[in-house]
Amino acid sequence: TELWSLWASQALLFLLLMLFIAFLGYCAYIKYTHLKYDHIPGPPRDSFILGHAPTFLKYMKEEKITSSLLILFNLFGQRFLGNGLVTARDHDQWYKQRRIMDPAFSSLYLRGLMGTFNETAEKLMDKLTEFADSQTETNMLGLVNCVTLDVITKVAFGVDLDFLAKSSPLPKAIEACLKGMVYNVRDIFFEYVPKNWPFVKEVRDACRLLRTTGAQWIHERKTAINNGDEVPKDILTQIIKSAEENMTKEDEEFMLDNFVTFFIAGQETTANQLAFCIQELTRHPDILEKVRKEVDDVVGMKQDVSYDDLGKLIYLSQVLKETLRMYPTAPGTSREIAKDMVIDGIHIPGGFNCIFSSYVTSRMNKFFKDPLTFDPDRFHPDAPKPYYCYYPFSLGPRSCLGQNFAQMEAKVVMAKLVQRFDFSLVPGQTFDIRDTGTLRPKSGVVCTVRHRNQKPLTLQDIYC
Ligand code: HEM
Repeated sequence: TELWSLWASQALLFLLLMLFIAFLGYCAYIKYTHLKYDHIPGPPRDSFILGHAPTFLKYMKEEKITSSLLILFNLFGQRFLGNGLVTARDHDQWYKQRRIMDPAFSSLYLRGLMGTFNETAEKLMDKLTEFADSQTETNMLGLVNCVTLDVITKVAFGVDLDFLAKSSPLPKAIEACLKGMVYNVRDIFFEYVPKNWPFVKEVRDACRLLRTTGAQWIHERKTAINNGDEVPKDILTQIIKSAEENMTKEDEEFMLDNFVTFFIAGQETTANQLAFCIQELTRHPDILEKVRKEVDDVVGMKQDVSYDDLGKLIYLSQVLKETLRMYPTAPGTSREIAKDMVIDGIHIPGGFNCIFSSYVTSRMNKFFKDPLTFDPDRFHPDAPKPYYCYYPFSLGPRSCLGQNFAQMEAKVVMAKLVQRFDFSLVPGQTFDIRDTGTLRPKSGVVCTVRHRNQKPLTLQDIYC
């Protein structure tokens, strides 16, 4: 027994020694990492071992930031964006897809979408007329969300769903996926905690609903193509083209990746931009008046906004750009730094991921004077162009494919809105931002809407 306990205590000692050496090795590795990156300016480290992690966790808990970029191949084990255009990591695979998708975003093709942009925006105007007539408050974020959903399903997939008039499970499914995306990124153990299982199931079901909807619409389109029917050269046709001739199961999954990608990328961000824009206009009557004057001069009494009108709505463009400066609805991006490089005199070692926050740079005094003031004149055609500090659509070859699409759509909706209606924010709402992976106005922008030139309601009108 004595020999046994001597052996056991020596083994324990040895184990402790090994643990100590491992710990020292780990500390040496951390020190080496610090030395590698310490020259890069940043806030002070919270602790030697944990680095900046406590600060990140604190802000994530307070829902001030999400590390949103991006583990989006799967959501809680259910395939989500997979290898679609936004998330494809292999350069050749991405390049091939991007070339195939390009025609659906050419200026010639986009010009042909003006009819759909106008028609769908007109449905929103009908809805707002109802709200103005009945003098009821309306959640503008909810409404513009339906508009952008209607546009993307019609324009990208050739399907008319009329979300403004009919209820559908799809908007809720998109919201669940976005929410799930945030939880998934914030906490890798989220799905293993039993109390989260109902939500995890909801997200998986939502993901599946989007993908089965995609499978059904792709099947219908393929049948039409095989029957020799004339089909639009829209995003759905391009998605089908991007798959190989003799389709494998993976090719099919790949088509669905892109279906979900365009459904999500092509809708939420634009809706949030519109809602933020409306919210800012409610507190800047002078800017609203200037937009309105321009719309009156360019569009006048016409019902529809033409493609040529869009080019003349210069101040409205400035307002939309300034909206994305203060509220970049896709708040950042990340890039893998493949090899060492020098940026602004600072040596950046290769081999790691770099996160770029469009939200942070566009609110820095260094780049934008008085950054918290909403001032569309920053984007006046004669003003100096922001130099690599304003990138709501990202920059370079992986920049947003739908940028022009989104801004054409936003201009049509905003032009019609200010042409016909006055709107004011229902008092007591917050101007805070909610980070759900994309940025959205926390309050939902609840407004009262009046027909233009209609006298604003007084308290007496409301209560008598
Ligand atoms: C205000 C509206 C929009 C904003 C702020 C926005 C923002 C962005 C950003 C920042 C990226 C780059 C992501 C990255 O670098 O990782 C991106 C990529 C992309 N966006 Fe948008 N987007 C908007 C609207 C749209 C629309 C309407 C569509 C399609 C109809 C779209 C389709 C895409 C696609 C396909 C990519 C991936 C491009 C690639 O990697 O080649 N976006 N978007």
